[in-house]
Amino acid sequence: MKRRIPAATAAFSIDASLIDPSFSAAVIDWQKQHGRHALPWQLSRDAYRVWLSEIMLQQTQVAAVIPYYQRFLQSFPTVADLAAASAEDVMAHWSGLGYYTRARNLHQCAKQVVEQYGGQFPADPALLELLPGIGRSTAAAIAAFSYGTVAAILDGNVKRVFARVFGVDAYPGSKPVEDAMWQRAQALLPQQGIESYTQGLMDLGATVCTRSKPACERCPLQLRCVAFAENRTAELPVRKPRKAQKIKQALMLVLLHDDHVLLQRRPETGIWGGLLSLPEVDGMRERGDDAHDDVRLQIAAQTEACSRLALPFGEVHSAARLPEFSHVFTHFKLHIQPVLVQLKRRQAMIADDQYVWYPLHTIQDAALPAPVKSLLLGLTNQPAQQDLMFSTD
Ligand code: ADE
Ligand code: SF4
Repeated sequence: MKRRIPAATAAFSIDASLIDPSFSAAVIDWQKQHGRHALPWQLSRDAYRVWLSEIMLQQTQVAAVIPYYQRFLQSFPTVADLAAASAEDVMAHWSGLGYYTRARNLHQCAKQVVEQYGGQFPADPALLELLPGIGRSTAAAIAAFSYGTVAAILDGNVKRVFARVFGVDAYPGSKPVEDAMWQRAQALLPQQGIESYTQGLMDLGATVCTRSKPACERCPLQLRCVAFAENRTAELPVRKPRKAQKIKQALMLVLLHDDHVLLQRRPETGIWGGLLSLPEVDGMRERGDDAHDDVRLQIAAQTEACSRLALPFGEVHSAARLPEFSHVFTHFKLHIQPVLVQLKRRQAMIADDQYVWYPLHTIQDAALPAPVKSLLLGLTNQPAQQDLMFSTD
C-alpha cells in the first residue's frame, strides 16, 4: 500500500496579496444564474452519492457518466452495499466507463469507509485524501458538496481557468506552478457559498472557459482575465514542454567488392531485429552522453581507422565518407554516418555466419531497414565517390 501524506494538512501561510473576495462573488453569482443545477448528484448531499459522482467525473464527461451513476445507485444504494458486492459485479457496472483503476479503487474505498468510518465518509478533506482513488482536489470537492467544508479544488479545468485569468506563463503541470496555483485556490476561497463556488468553477471550466474557443463573451471573469485582455486564450495555459529528442549515432561500413556489399544480420531484439544491415562501428551510441563518442566516431570516419576496421573483411583499396543522414524512430533520431570502403580483395570466407556478401544488383530484394536500402540503392545508381580521403594505392 502506498502511503500518502495528505496535502490538505500542509501548513499554508496564505499570501495576503492573493486574497480577492470579488473573485468568488463573481463565480457564485454566475453559478446561481447560469451554472448547472439539475445534475443527478446535485439532488443530494449524501456523501456516498457525491463521492461516486466525483470519481466517475474524474476522467469522464457528464453526459457519459449519468446512466452509469444511475445504474450504480440502483444496484448499490449505499456504500455498505457497494462494499459487500463482488469485484466482478463492480467491474461489470463500471464496464464501458474506462480507466478501470478507478473501479478497483472505488471498491476498495467503499470497504475502507465501512470498516474505518462505519459507512460515514469523513468531512475532513485530509482524511478523505487518505482513501483509495481520492486525490487532493476530489477530496475537497466531496467535502464541499457533502458537508459544506471550505476547501480548494484544482482539477484540469480549474487550472485552465486560473492560467488564463491570471496570465500564468508557465506549464501548470510543473510542481512549482502547481504549488502556486494551490496557493491561489486557497486564497480565493469564499467564506460563504462553498458549494456554489466549487460547482461554479467546474461549470465555468466545462461550459465557458473551454480548451478551444472559450466563450469569453458570457464569462463572469472576463473583466479580470489576462488572457482575454491580451488576446492570448489560444496560448494559455502553456502546453507541456516537449522532451528534447534523443539522438543516437552510428557509423556504418559500406564494404564493396566486385558488385557485392557486406551485410550483417542484426540481433533478434532491438531495432531492426533480425534484418540484414550494414556492419556498424561502435553500435548506436547516444549523442551527448559522452563527449568522447562524437570525437571517436568522427576520427573513425575521417582517418584510415576505417580501413583498419575493414581489414578482417579484405584488403582495402580506398575509403570515402558518404553524406550523413538521419532516420527518425519513435523514441530517438538516428544519425547515420556511412563510410564507403572499396576492397581490393575480399575474404573468401568469413567464419561468422551473421555476415553475407550480397550482390548489389539484387539489393532491392534484401531484408534491409528502409534507410539502409535507400542508401545502397543510391549507390547502385551513381557510385558516390566524392570526398575521397585516401587511397592505399
Ligand atoms: N466534474 C467533476 N465534478 C463535477 C460536478 N460535481 N459537476 C459537474 N462536473 C463535474
Ligand atoms: Fe476563460 Fe475567456 Fe473567461 Fe478568461 S474571459 S476566464 S479566457 S472564458
